[in-house]
Amino acid sequence: MRFFKRGVLALASFLTTTNGYINLTDTETSLVLSNDRLYMSLHKSQATPLTLTLDGQDLLGTGKGPYVDCHCVPSGSWAPGNKGSAIYTLIQDIDSTNTLYAGIITQDTYVSTNRSIEQYWFLREGETGLHTFTRVYYYNESQPYLNGMGDLRTLFRPNLTLWTHLFSGEGNWAPLPASEFLGGDTDAQDATWDLRRSQDDAYV
Ligand SMILES: *[C@@H]1O[C@H](CO)[C@@H](O)[C@H](O)[C@H]1NC(C)=O
Ligand SMILES: *[C@@H]1O[C@H](CO)[C@@H](O)[C@H](O)[C@H]1NC(C)=O
Ligand SMILES: *[C@@H]1O[C@H](CO)[C@@H](O)[C@H](O)[C@H]1NC(C)=O
Ligand SMILES: *[C@@H]1O[C@H](CO)[C@@H](O)[C@H](O)[C@H]1NC(C)=O
Repeated sequence: MRFFKRGVLALASFLTTTNGYINLTDTETSLVLSNDRLYMSLHKSQATPLTLTLDGQDLLGTGKGPYVDCHCVPSGSWAPGNKGSAIYTLIQDIDSTNTLYAGIITQDTYVSTNRSIEQYWFLREGETGLHTFTRVYYYNESQPYLNGMGDLRTLFRPNLTLWTHLFSGEGNWAPLPASEFLGGDTDAQDATWDLRRSQDDAYV
């Protein structure tokens, strides 16, 4: 038996089933998307999650994410929505497997080139992770081809000691380099560290 109730003003909605619930709440400063295990609070002025917890465990510390940025504008990099210009769309429904879900979409357009980026975050009832994807689009009749998609990244940037390893798939993982080798004078480039003086570190 499902108890499916749409939020009257779309300011807050709380959907429940016997399997769990989805809570999507819009406040002045943040958008909260949660189920009984995962909680995400996205800061509206930055279009970025600043709080993410699983079973009450903080996953971000003073970090942020997952959020999108790109190297795709004339001035270099751009994090859509981080200047308070994002347009938000909130959605909630039941999917083809009869599972409740809710989502947040941010959309932002880089004015001088008219290139747009949308970022999606979805959460289903009972799940312990977010589904994210990114959409990029551009339309200009007089200049149909816009050069310069340097990169497009979804970043998860926790800043707390909870995380110990990097993992991108079976057979491709490593322990994080020891913190004394990160940042400071070993910073070689943007988010790239010089580990030559740490040959004994497990990462190396
Ligand atoms: C939904 O989330 C909001 C924001 O965290 C919270 O204030 C509210 O109490 C939650 N609603 C329910 C029914 O738990
Ligand atoms: C990350 O955490 C350290 C230690 O708490 C703190 O000194 C530093 O300012 C934090 N960095 C960011 C970007 O929050
Ligand atoms: C379309 O491209 C032209 C040529 O680069 C540019 O001058 C114009 O501003 C662009 N239009 C928009 C809406 O960005
Ligand atoms: C800007 O792009 C949107 C689609 O993203 C398009 O509908 C609109 O016509 C474009 N504006 C101009 C002036 O080209």
